[in-house]
Amino acid sequence: MIEQLVRPNILLLKPYASARSQFFDLKALMLDANENPYGTHNRYPDPFQRELKSKVAEIKNVPVDQIFIGNGSDEVIDLLQRLFCEPGDDQILVCPPTYGMYAVSAQVNDVGVVEVPLTANFQLDINQINQVLLANPAIKMIFLCSPNNPTANLLENVEEVIEFFNGIVVLDEAYIDFSEKASMTDRLKQFPRLVVVQTLSKAYGLAAARIGMAFASAEIVAYLNKMKPPYNVGTENQLLAIQALENQAEFQENKSLILKQRSWLAQELQQLSFVREIFPSQANFLLVRVDDAAMVYQKLLSRGIVIRNRQHEIENCLRISIGTKTQNRQLMDALKEIQQAINS
Ligand SMILES: Cc1ncc(COP(=O)(O)O)c(C=O)c1O
Repeated sequence: MIEQLVRPNILLLKPYASARSQFFDLKALMLDANENPYGTHNRYPDPFQRELKSKVAEIKNVPVDQIFIGNGSDEVIDLLQRLFCEPGDDQILVCPPTYGMYAVSAQVNDVGVVEVPLTANFQLDINQINQVLLANPAIKMIFLCSPNNPTANLLENVEEVIEFFNGIVVLDEAYIDFSEKASMTDRLKQFPRLVVVQTLSKAYGLAAARIGMAFASAEIVAYLNKMKPPYNVGTENQLLAIQALENQAEFQENKSLILKQRSWLAQELQQLSFVREIFPSQANFLLVRVDDAAMVYQKLLSRGIVIRNRQHEIENCLRISIGTKTQNRQLMDALKEIQQAINS
């Protein structure tokens, strides 16, 4: 069934057989990959990230053959579109305001983007999605993000969309570890056209290492493995990822510090006269509505503090990442100064 959704050229694709895909035993005499015999970073990495995947399998409770590792989830998003969408013909559906890379990736791949905006309370407009899907057979994939960036909330009706749609639903769970909800990875058996995307860039604090993950049917994962550049994740990054996953104590501790700081910052922001609304957050950032987003953004910038101005998507809204206690205090001090300047 998945086969019918895959682009014909990918079905026919004979993957590049890298030197290391067949034998990966660095203790053998490896004269197969035109590597330099000298140095400490001279060997190509394991193309299938076997050790890392077995760690991911253990932590995420997903079988190894249902795990794909990409160079950040941005690479995963791009590969998924190239797997299922025919350039020039096919389309994806997105629900803005949401993560911008789904549409950017589509534009790069000459895939059309159909938008069905979220409702006023940032939930899926199920009726509208269903109508658009019925009218539009060229839509091959839907990208949903929960918790959603930049609105910070969980999407409630993801299952309905998966049940209604006969194409691929990609559920981006980049922020799931900060939320109260469990991942949908335990529903992969029930929903063979679901792809859950996660990353080590957020709750695991490993943005520099570029480790993205797709959890999907073994069939989808096999196609992704066939398409990917052979050495897409470097050796050091694979090791960093294994260490981060093994260090669950540090992961839990940092996560709870961030969650505590999220509540603290929300309470503090609430006191400011120019803050109109703080949206509930299930992620490591806050979406905040102020009287004049451009002004607050600029004034923070002039004090050396960079946040995101989302006013082009959501009226007068700013997105603020949760920092350390010290960083959040520094932010609040600056915002209080701005408040004083407004009031004086
Ligand atoms: C929703 C969402 N998905 C994916 C990503 C990209 O993550 P990665 O660092 O794994 O490429 C981000 C980064 O901000 C994001 O907000």
